[in-house]
Amino acid sequence: MKELIKRLVETYGPAGSEESIREVIMEEVRPYVDELHVDALGNLIALKRGGGKKLMLASHMDEIGVMVTSIDENGFLRFYGVGGISPFSLIGNRCYFANGTVGVFGMERLDAMKDLTMNKMFIDIGVDSREAALEKVKVGDVAAIKREFCDLGKRLVSKAMDDRIACAIQIEALKQVQNPAYDIYAVFTTQEEVGLRGARVAAYGITPDIGIAVDVTRTGDTPKCATMAVCLGKGPTVKVRDSSVLCTPAVRRHMEEVAKANDIPYQLEVLEAGGTDAGAIQLTKSGIPAGVMSIPCRYIHTASEMVDYDDVLNGVRFLVKLMETEYQG
Ligand code: CO
Ligand code: ZN
Repeated sequence: MKELIKRLVETYGPAGSEESIREVIMEEVRPYVDELHVDALGNLIALKRGGGKKLMLASHMDEIGVMVTSIDENGFLRFYGVGGISPFSLIGNRCYFANGTVGVFGMERLDAMKDLTMNKMFIDIGVDSREAALEKVKVGDVAAIKREFCDLGKRLVSKAMDDRIACAIQIEALKQVQNPAYDIYAVFTTQEEVGLRGARVAAYGITPDIGIAVDVTRTGDTPKCATMAVCLGKGPTVKVRDSSVLCTPAVRRHMEEVAKANDIPYQLEVLEAGGTDAGAIQLTKSGIPAGVMSIPCRYIHTASEMVDYDDVLNGVRFLVKLMETEYQG
């Protein structure tokens, strides 16, 4: 499964530019599902028929990135964030565009590092004129962070673990599921990082009986970090709340019962800030019961997002059992 994770995290796909990552995922899931659709927002909807109620799963394909806002006469690119990206996380990093053009993040001279903002930064693509830059990049082009997958053994590190680790888990669960208790609409959503946009229209189109998003969440297990009762290696989480959702209590209970019945370790998650596709699913039409399984992840929205491999494997087991157990709520 590490091979699959590496392939997914190293594929280009910022919000709104998911074509390449969708192609990769489509080829991975095709043998294991009954139907594949791509909707107008670019969501990939993989249907696996088991009969009964409709279960919608949502893992977002998009990653954070930066968009070119202007190009100066010396060929330096100014940019803004696509999704929640901190300028501090960009110092010393590189990015790459859909056509393979690589850029280095630089910054103006500042009196104090705390004054760093996105508009004090630029991207250097190794040219010395606007004309030369325009041969590679234009205004509106989007770049992803460039950083390779790294297997530390127990822990895995890469850019875009948010949320390709969930895409990998959703693909693997589709491979492993034996007796689906639903018609499963496994959606690989677009534009989550800019406001849960893909999931919103996908949920409207599907109108599921229950929705479960799979995403990453923060942890409270590094030196002097914010307090949070989630640790790497103690299992996937059953989310209680984040800024986008108060998970439907009956779905939460259902998820906890499934985990307990199958001896799958899990943690209850209260995330103070941040959102997930479940927030969009839950508010669709007249309301849809929704929950979230998260994979604990350190350094979210940086070039080096870290997850624990046991959590990933337990996440697959958990998702398979959720696919095989009917929600009675
Ligand atoms: Co994110
Ligand atoms: Zn995410």
